[in-house]
Amino acid sequence: MIAGFVQFCPVRYDVQANVAQVERLLAGVKADLLVLPELANSGYMYASSRDLAPHSESANGNGPFLSALRRMARAVGGLIITGLSERTQDGLYNSAVTVDTTGIVAHYRKTHLFADEQDLFLPGDTGFSVFDYAGARIGMMVCFDWYFPESARTLALRGAQIIAHPSNLVLPHCQTAMVTRSLENRVFTITTNRWGTESLGEEGASQRSLTFTGASQVLTPLGERLTQASVTGDAVYLVEIDPAQADNKHPTPRNHLLHNRRPDMYA
Ligand code: ACM
Repeated sequence: MIAGFVQFCPVRYDVQANVAQVERLLAGVKADLLVLPELANSGYMYASSRDLAPHSESANGNGPFLSALRRMARAVGGLIITGLSERTQDGLYNSAVTVDTTGIVAHYRKTHLFADEQDLFLPGDTGFSVFDYAGARIGMMVCFDWYFPESARTLALRGAQIIAHPSNLVLPHCQTAMVTRSLENRVFTITTNRWGTESLGEEGASQRSLTFTGASQVLTPLGERLTQASVTGDAVYLVEIDPAQADNKHPTPRNHLLHNRRPDMYA
């Protein structure tokens, strides 16, 4: 399976500019699975959900961002997983959506909202799930979910071989910590981060800015880094992986990382 990430710098208030960026980066790219950053349609910093709502869309696949990705998925020949500011009647969710050319394959709403995201988004209510594609089992989590080992562990317990992890990382730890998430669950992880700096400036109650840390990466079930982008700059990196490698949960012949758990000791 050819899998990889599309690191770029989404711009705020301009969904069409983000469609154009992704389209430019994907020209001529063929892959089975590509992962885009968190909130790839909208950018990250908004003063209010009212500001963000017009740049958000339904997860039904028919909005401007997802319909463009479905078209791109046809040219790519595989799945595209993206972070999405999702608009619903109840409010906004910080979501991840998997599309192929026919439509929506899977949908996840971020469980653990980071910092001021709690002012913009409703807490995710989908839980973690795994789907099959071309003989691989794939699950999604979004950015700060990494800080809660239960996220990746739940996906592993539900059979994920690959965890797609759209991100907008601002703390320095995730790319290193994901080595442990991959190793302790014996899963491939694709963490796609964005790069660049955003400032709320006069739109917000106070001057605030965030710099995103790039360095998107693909890790093996042994925590080996197959590829990593730089801290800034657009990048499409592809690697060949065998998802079945994630089925070996034996760190020693006598241990199994999922079967040796002792949930009765954890309660
Ligand atoms: C984050 O969850 N975007 C840090």
